[in-house]
Amino acid sequence: MTQHAESALRADRPQPASADDHARSADWWRDAVIYQVYPRSFADADGDGMGDLPGIRARLPYLAELGVDAVWLSPFYASPQADGGYDVADYRAIDPMFGSLPDAEALVDEAHALGLRVIVDLVPNHSSDRHEWFRRALREGPGSPLRDRYHFRAGRGEHGELPPNDWESIFGGPAWTRTEDPDGTPGEWYLHLFAPEQPDFNWQHPAVHDEFRSVLRFWLDTGVDGFRIDVAHGLVKAEGLPDMGSAGQLQLLGTQQLPFFDQDGVHEIYRDWRRVLDEYPGPRIGVAEAWAPSPERTALYVRADELHQAFNFHYLSTDWDAGQLRAAIDESLTSLGAVGAPATWVLSNHDVVRHRTRLGGGLRRARAATLLMLALPGSAYVYQGEELGLPEVLELPDEARQDPSFFRDNGQDGLRDGCRVPIPWEEHGPSYGFGPDGSWLPQPDGWGALSVAVQTGDPESTLEFYRAALRLRRDHDDLGAGAPLEWLDAPDGVLAFRRGGLVCAANTRAEPVAWEPARGRVLLASAPYAGGELPGDTVVWWQAEATEGTGA
Ligand code: NOJ
Repeated sequence: MTQHAESALRADRPQPASADDHARSADWWRDAVIYQVYPRSFADADGDGMGDLPGIRARLPYLAELGVDAVWLSPFYASPQADGGYDVADYRAIDPMFGSLPDAEALVDEAHALGLRVIVDLVPNHSSDRHEWFRRALREGPGSPLRDRYHFRAGRGEHGELPPNDWESIFGGPAWTRTEDPDGTPGEWYLHLFAPEQPDFNWQHPAVHDEFRSVLRFWLDTGVDGFRIDVAHGLVKAEGLPDMGSAGQLQLLGTQQLPFFDQDGVHEIYRDWRRVLDEYPGPRIGVAEAWAPSPERTALYVRADELHQAFNFHYLSTDWDAGQLRAAIDESLTSLGAVGAPATWVLSNHDVVRHRTRLGGGLRRARAATLLMLALPGSAYVYQGEELGLPEVLELPDEARQDPSFFRDNGQDGLRDGCRVPIPWEEHGPSYGFGPDGSWLPQPDGWGALSVAVQTGDPESTLEFYRAALRLRRDHDDLGAGAPLEWLDAPDGVLAFRRGGLVCAANTRAEPVAWEPARGRVLLASAPYAGGELPGDTVVWWQAEATEGTGA
C-alpha cells in the first residue's frame, strides 16, 4: 500500500473527542498546555521497574482530569538506552521494555477519545550506534556508502591518531570516537555531538532526508498530532566541519555562533517537513527543541512555513527576578510575534533541575512561577510531577545514576537523573504506586507524601492548585491565546500585567509588598492571600472590576 493510501485510511482513526466542540480546534496548538511524559518514569504496568506504554494508557484519565490539552511522550522507540531512549536503533519499532506498536496505537486512540492530543519525540540529529545503517557502516569499513550517512573522517596527526577537529561533546570529552577497521586496526573517526553511542547523521545525504520523511509519515499514519524535534538546531553542520577554535567549551544556551548549531541550512529541512505535516488532516505540529543563541534566532524555526512551536529555553533559563522575567517575556513575545507564532513557556523538563529546586525558593516559589507562566500568552509545557510539586532528587547514589553526562568529564548537562525519579502515585507500596515492584531509580523516603493519592481532594495541595489553574486558563477567554499582555506599573520586584479582564501580579521578592494592582475578585493565588499586601514569592490572578478602557 502506498503511504498516501494508508494515510487516507488512517485518517478515519478517532480524532480528539473535544475536536468538534473545542472552539480552538484548528489552532489548538496556539495555546495548548502540553504535558511531558518521560515514559521510563511515569507508570510501570508490567513490574519491571521501568515505566511503559500500558502504564501511561492507564493514567490517561488522570491527565485528562488534570486539564492539559496534549501529551508529549519522550522516546519509546527501540533503543539500547545509552541516553534514556534518545539513542534510537529503529524509528518504527517500540522498545519491548515499553510495549508494542499496538500499545502505541491504542495509546493514541485512547488519548484522542479523552480529548487529549499526542505529540511524539523525533530524534533526527543522531541515531543509536546500534542502528542498522551505522552497524553496516562499521562492518563494511572505509568506503562503505553507509558511512556517508554519518560523519566519518580520517583523523589528524601522523597516524590519524587525533580527532578530525576540535569539537566537544555536549556530554563532555571530544565529539569524535575512533573506529576499528574490520581487520582490527585503528580506523576512521565518527562524529557524535552527544554520547559515543549517538553518531550524528549527515544531513547532506538525500537518504537521510528520505528516511525521516518516511518516519514522519509512519507516525502521522498512527494518528499522532505532532512531533517534538530533538536537537532541531543541530542537524546541519558548517561546511567542512571547521574547528570551533576560541569558542571553548560549548554551552547549550550560549550566545556564540557554533559550527554545529543553528546553521541556516536547518530551515530548509523544516520547510520540507512542514509540507509533510500539512498533507494530513490536523493540524499536525512540529515543536523545535532548538537552543538558539537569541530569541530572534529561535523565532526563525517557527516561521509560517516551518515548525509550529519552539521551546522557550531563554525563559526557562531566567532567574526568579521581576526585571529579568519581564525582559524575557517581552523579547519572546516580540520575536515570535514578528513571525506570527505563539510564544511557549516552560519551567521544567527531563534535562534540567526541577524548578521547585532550581529557582531556589522551594514549593512556594515553584507554585508562583507556575501561576505566572500559565497567565502568559501562548502555549505552556508542564513536566510530569511538577503538578505534585516534586523537588529535584539530589541524593541519588552514584551507582544508581544512568545519565550519560554523569559518566563523562565536564558534561554540560550535569546530572539529569534527579528530575527523572519515578512518579509517586500512592502513599505507600514498593514504588509508591509507580508499579507493582521497585523502580529503576530509587525514590526518596517519604516520596509517597507527595503522591497523587495523597494530594487528590486536598484543596491546599499543589495538584489541586494545578487543576484549578488549568481549569481557569481553559475557561477564561482572556488567557491562553486570548487578550494581549499590557504591563502595569508595579513596585520593584513585582511584575504585573493585564490581559483583558484578567490581572496577574507576581511578587518575586521573599518579603511582602504593600500593593494591590486593582480592585477585583481574586480568581486564584499561588499561596494564601487575604488581599491587601502581596505576600512574598506569590502570584495572584484577579478578575478586574470593569473600569474605563479595560474592556473588562
Ligand atoms: C535533548 C534531549 O532532551 C536530551 O535528553 C538528550 O540527551 C539530547 N537531546 C540528545 O538527544
